[in-house]
Amino acid sequence: MTSKVTTTVNDGLAVVSIDNPPVNALSHEVREGLMAAARQTEQDSYVRAVVLACGGRTFVAGADIKEFGAPPKPPITPDVMNAIEQTSKPWIAALHGSTLGGGLELALACDYRVAEPATKLGFPEVNIGLIPGAGGTVRLPRVIAMTEAVTMISSGRPIGADRALSLGLVDAIANTDLLAEASELARTKMDAPPLPAVSARPVLQPLDDGQAADCLDAVQKKAKGQQAPVAAAELVIIGASQPPETAMAEAQRVFQRLRASDESAALRYIFFAERSVPKFAAVDGVRPRPHQTIGVVGGGTMGASICAGLLLARCQVTMIEQNDAALDKGMQATRAILDDSRRRGLLTESNHHAVLSEFMGTTDYSALAQADVVIEAVFEDMQVKTAVFQQLDAATRPEAVLVTNTSYLDINELARRTNDPSRIFGLHFFSPAHIMKLVEVVHTARGAPDALATVFALARKLGKIAVPAGVCDGFIANRIMAAYRLAGECLLEDGALPHQVDDALREYGFPMGIFEMQDLAGLDIGYAMRQRRAATRKPDERYVDIPDKLVEAGRLGRKTGQGYYDYPDGKSVQQSAEVNNLIAQESERKGITRRKISADEIIRLLLASMRAEAHAVVTEGIAETEQAVDVAMVNGFGFPRWRGGPMFSQRQAEVQNESQDHD
Ligand code: 3HC
Ligand code: NAI
Repeated sequence: MTSKVTTTVNDGLAVVSIDNPPVNALSHEVREGLMAAARQTEQDSYVRAVVLACGGRTFVAGADIKEFGAPPKPPITPDVMNAIEQTSKPWIAALHGSTLGGGLELALACDYRVAEPATKLGFPEVNIGLIPGAGGTVRLPRVIAMTEAVTMISSGRPIGADRALSLGLVDAIANTDLLAEASELARTKMDAPPLPAVSARPVLQPLDDGQAADCLDAVQKKAKGQQAPVAAAELVIIGASQPPETAMAEAQRVFQRLRASDESAALRYIFFAERSVPKFAAVDGVRPRPHQTIGVVGGGTMGASICAGLLLARCQVTMIEQNDAALDKGMQATRAILDDSRRRGLLTESNHHAVLSEFMGTTDYSALAQADVVIEAVFEDMQVKTAVFQQLDAATRPEAVLVTNTSYLDINELARRTNDPSRIFGLHFFSPAHIMKLVEVVHTARGAPDALATVFALARKLGKIAVPAGVCDGFIANRIMAAYRLAGECLLEDGALPHQVDDALREYGFPMGIFEMQDLAGLDIGYAMRQRRAATRKPDERYVDIPDKLVEAGRLGRKTGQGYYDYPDGKSVQQSAEVNNLIAQESERKGITRRKISADEIIRLLLASMRAEAHAVVTEGIAETEQAVDVAMVNGFGFPRWRGGPMFSQRQAEVQNESQDHD
């Protein structure tokens, strides 16, 4: 027995407790402890049933991912699960918090499962490029229907306790006292005839060949080039027709293969990077100011969705607009988002009501007198923003923290124009702000540490991944995107067409290509930015006129039915002969001989542009580390997560090249 796993026996009932904060991961020490507990409770004739429970905020949330970089140390997880399953006494798993991956496999090795109502159960292994390697692919379809098992394992999405109960994954919900209710169930099972081990039961509702093929096909389509979801679905489906030992051995082989894959290395890297990047040293241990009552100035695209995000995080929110009509529109937009959250089951009826009661709007800045934090999201114009901050100077308490959602403006300059620059920062959201996980927390030259800590704390409350960024034009993500966009435009002049660039990017793993993305966002946004910068543009900088000419021809993107592509019915996408002609004319005008550019070269050039800018961003100290860049690009601009981001994928390619050189 180890200190992380303890057993107490009382009146024939053993309670095996795992205590391995923060998430009770199945580390080597926990595995050893569980093995010993299985042996000890089996040998102790006084023990007639076992409850397996965890201390702290969660049941086991999975294997210890930190151990995946080294060869596994015995006892390995599948052996622990088998040892528990093979005991002669009933084991009852008492579940709470996040019962994930190896944690759910552990619960499935037990005979019964009792869960608190808020428990989340799932197999998130595919999110880190893996499959459940300790029997989950074999045991799950013997407890719930096959199609549900394939969905759970290949999607990585967890389900709630109620759904788990209706599927048969848990046997009971503990509404008041988990340990007491699990113990009660255990006592009723002391003399019951033993259940067959889960792995020895028949598969529930197996699929016929046609259904299996359709199911695999659907998973393949959704996987978008990732291997783990497909491997997971194959294991569940093919394993159903194999003896359980054969299927388990195959799952272990696939797990070991994937563990060594680039995909899993990248996904594990980004998992830890997302948790380490927001830990900004300058605010380490600094106590944030209150951040519950929030003002949002501007109720346009961003302001409305920022308000919704704040309300969903249970803040009190006041929206300020410049006139009644704009206020009405902004508040309606926020309410529409909340209505949608209720329709999608993210808010219950009563929560929806409670959340709306914390929302008010006005055109009068004096309503911000009690605000802890004010977020400004008005037009991207220094004069307009300066006027707003000067009103905030007068309207807010001196300790209130004021942040701007500006995309490009100089926040140090804006801070200088206020009475107290120590409370001014950037909090740069991505659209739609209530959905996108990324925010950049822009620290300023004269910002006070506790005011900055407040901005990070608010971002955490919103459930965001907060990437610290320094002040520059575009901060981290937009600045790198600008370089990438320019490289894409250069490719058009040099010989590629928009669909060739976009196809190559989708093939690489981006959810959409760079030109499709701009058509969606609206080409007028980039146009306005280029106009603003025209006076300061360096004369030797390569400039591509194609996007400006598109806008001047009224092609603003999807919203006008024409952009880089044609959208004849608002939905379907077609190449545009007009655009392709314009591109050819522009090449000619610049004296460029168009050449054939392969998909590989397109990707190489686009990634090189991104990396060069990312390198500058890190060197200048705008981003703290390369990890910060990767986290920003994966969460802000759809860089394929399973490639780890522009910087990680470069390092991985370098390592591969080196090892090929040695071979
Ligand atoms: N292994 C090691 N460390 C882990 C971990 C894991 N499985 N899960 C979380 N952690 C660490 C985090 O890195 C973080 O560390 P830090 O405080 O030093 O930054 C700490 O635990 C807390 O994690 P979060 O900040 O993410 O806490 P949350 O409360 O927001 O979320 C969670 C908790 C839902 C459990 C989330 O951490 C999570 O999704 N974890 C990963 C779960 C997972 O992928 N499980 C499957 C692992 S693979 C497996 O089980 C293989 C099996 O088939 C053999
Ligand atoms: P928008 O044009 O949709 O909304 C701006 C709103 O501000 C309008 O509703 C306007 O009535 C209001 N407003 C203007 N002056 C005001 C004042 N003095 N007092 C109160 N309200 C006032 O603009 P959008 O897109 O929401 O952008 C807002 C800010 O967010 C800009 O700085 C932009 O750069 C930034 N941003 C925009 C993103 C996007 O994708 N749209 C993404 C990230 C940041």
